[in-house]
Amino acid sequence: MVCLGNICRSPLAEEILRSKVNPTEVEVDSAGTSDYHVGEKPDRRSIDVGKKHGLDLSFQRARQFQTSDFDRFDFIYVMDSQNYQNVVKLARNEADTQKVDLISNVLHPGQNRPVPDPYYGGDDGFERVFQMLDNACETIAEKLNNDE
Ligand code: 4NP
Repeated sequence: MVCLGNICRSPLAEEILRSKVNPTEVEVDSAGTSDYHVGEKPDRRSIDVGKKHGLDLSFQRARQFQTSDFDRFDFIYVMDSQNYQNVVKLARNEADTQKVDLISNVLHPGQNRPVPDPYYGGDDGFERVFQMLDNACETIAEKLNNDE
């Protein structure tokens, strides 16, 4: 799960997906394309909306996406087109590129709808982001759980 800062959207996506799969069989992680917040906890507003839905994000620490993530993960879900461009820039070959997609495309194939960055908005943006990610992760989890 990849966003820009790895403090708002992707930490929520990480914990939502983890809650829907068997964590001994599926490794879930998140990262940011930037280094702006490396080492920091998720944004307080993401921690709070996660807690409201029974998820604990407080152990997470932001890190930057790196090329070796293409070797560690089979699927790389990004939140918006800017994240997509930044991740694909680091791809070494077509196989790397094929692993990357906007997370909304699991529900709306090919439409490239963004999960809007809630960082500069109000708290309701975080609840909306939660609902979008929860819907998408439900579909991702069904796919992963069927593949096992
Ligand atoms: P995120 O949100 O990409 O969902 O973690 C942001 C967090 C921080 C910044 C931008 C987006 N920032 O510019 O510091």
